[in-house]
Amino acid sequence: MFLSISTLFAAHAPYPTNWKSFQKVNTDLAKIGSLPDCKADVSGLSPAFQETVKMFCGAKEGGPGRVEILVNDITEFIERDVSYKDGTTFILHLVDLKLLLVTYYESGRILYATYNEDGTFVKAKKKTGLNPRDCKRCHTFYDNVCSFGQCGTHGKFK
Ligand code: HEC
Repeated sequence: MFLSISTLFAAHAPYPTNWKSFQKVNTDLAKIGSLPDCKADVSGLSPAFQETVKMFCGAKEGGPGRVEILVNDITEFIERDVSYKDGTTFILHLVDLKLLLVTYYESGRILYATYNEDGTFVKAKKKTGLNPRDCKRCHTFYDNVCSFGQCGTHGKFK
């Protein structure tokens, strides 16, 4: 009872304890392999990617570094539609920063959160790119690359 109530009102996604068993996939970002530092010339990228680089580039000196996209269910990743099952869907793994950017669905509603690999919730300030509100804004604003709260150019949203 307590669990369901707290999940219902949680403003962010829970920690996916089984994230190590998720499958790595290739997206535009995964192919690039890492997020660059703030000096990188990103003028050739789409606005969503430009803003993403701008937001995350200062996370550490030399840039945030290696990234991986991890998915719970490969079918959901390929199809990407509104009918995501409840639970963790995709994770953006900032490998060098040891951070997990998690997307989670609950009755069609998407929740976001950032965790350390060990499961500690990262309470990030707004405009750092790691705060759930930042995720939500960017993942809904760029509807040419993001759909139903998920971004990337894989699958049918190519
Ligand atoms: C400024 C824009 C921006 C912000 C802020 C942002 N993202 Fe993203 N995110 C993107 C873009 C663009 C991609 C697609 C990259 C790719 O895979 O090609 C992406 C990809 C992802 C993916 C990989 C799955 C997919 O749909 O490709 C996950 C998971 C994700 N983001 C979660 C988060 C979470 C959680 C937060 C907040 C803690 C967050 N993002 C903040 C722009 C953003």
